[in-house]
Amino acid sequence: MLIQVRDLSKVYQMGAEVVRALDGVSLDVDAGEFLSITGASGSGKSTFMHLLGCLDKPTSGTYHLNDRDVTQMSDKELARIRNREIGFVFQTFNLINRTPAIDNVAVPLVYGRETFTNKKAMDALERVQLGKRAKHKPSEMSGGERQRVAIARAIVNNPKVIFADEPTGNLDTRTGEQIMGIFHDLHKEGTTIILVTHEMSVAAQAKRLIRMVDGVVDTDTPITPSLRNEMLHSGMFGASVLTDSGVSGGTESGVSGVTDSGSTVAAEPGVS
Ligand SMILES: Nc1ncnc2c1ncn2[C@@H]1O[C@H](COP(=O)(O)OP(=O)(O)O)[C@@H](O)[C@H]1O
Ligand SMILES: [Mg+2]
Repeated sequence: MLIQVRDLSKVYQMGAEVVRALDGVSLDVDAGEFLSITGASGSGKSTFMHLLGCLDKPTSGTYHLNDRDVTQMSDKELARIRNREIGFVFQTFNLINRTPAIDNVAVPLVYGRETFTNKKAMDALERVQLGKRAKHKPSEMSGGERQRVAIARAIVNNPKVIFADEPTGNLDTRTGEQIMGIFHDLHKEGTTIILVTHEMSVAAQAKRLIRMVDGVVDTDTPITPSLRNEMLHSGMFGASVLTDSGVSGGTESGVSGVTDSGSTVAAEPGVS
C-alpha cells in the first residue's frame, strides 16, 4: 500500500468558529493508481491534497506513506519526503517567474544537494517537450508551458506519486488536454497520480473517482467505461453511482453541485 489514510481531520479555528475542512477521511491507494478527486468548492479537496503532499499537518488521524507514519515526522523529515518522494502540481503553477525554466526545475535538486543538476533538470524538461525552452523565463511562456515547467519540476526527482490540485484549472480545454496527456504518460510509466479537478471531462480520465462532500469522502468508485461515458456526456457523475440529490439537483448548468467557483475557464494569457 503506497498511501494509507485513517480518520484524517484538519480543523481550523477561525475566531469563535471551528471549520472542519477535513472531517475524518480514510483512504487506501496502491502504487500505480490514477485517482481523480472532485467535489464542490469548499469540500476539502485542497486541504486533503496538502496533507497528502506533506505540505501541511493534520489535526488528528494517521497518514502512512510507503508504510511510514508521516504524521509523526519532524519538519525536516517531511521536507525530505516532499523533496524525494512526492511531486506537487498547483493550479497557479507556483514558479519563480523571473528565473529560467531550467533553474525552476532544478530547485528540488539544489535543495536536495544533488549533483548534475543541469543535466537532470534538462532531462525533466525534455520529458515535457520543453527542452528547447530551457532558458526561457516563465514570464515569457504561455500558461500551458508554465504548467509543463511545473510538472518537470515535480518529476525531476522521479517521485512515486504526483499530487495535482486543479492542474488544468487555469488552462483552456486544448491545453488542458496536453497536460492530461503528460499525466497519462507518467501513469503508464508507473507513477501514482492523484488529481483534483472539478471538470468532469478531466476527472473521467482517471481509473478511480473520489467525490468529497463537506470534508468527507462521499463516493469512492472505479471509473468503468460506462461511468466514464456518463461523466463525459452528462458533464456530471454517472447516475449509476449517485442516487442522492446533492449532485443531480436540477441546476441550470447541471454541474453546480461539483463546480468550484474559483475556476471559471479563462483564456490562457499569451497563447497564440
Ligand atoms: N488556512 C485556512 N484557514 C481557515 N479555513 C480554511 C483554510 N484552508 C481552508 N479552509 C476552509 O476549509 C474548507 C475546505 O477548503 P478547501 O480544502 O480549500 O476546499 P476545496 O479545495 O475543496 O475548495 C473551506 O471551508 C475553507 O474555507
Ligand atoms: Mg481547492
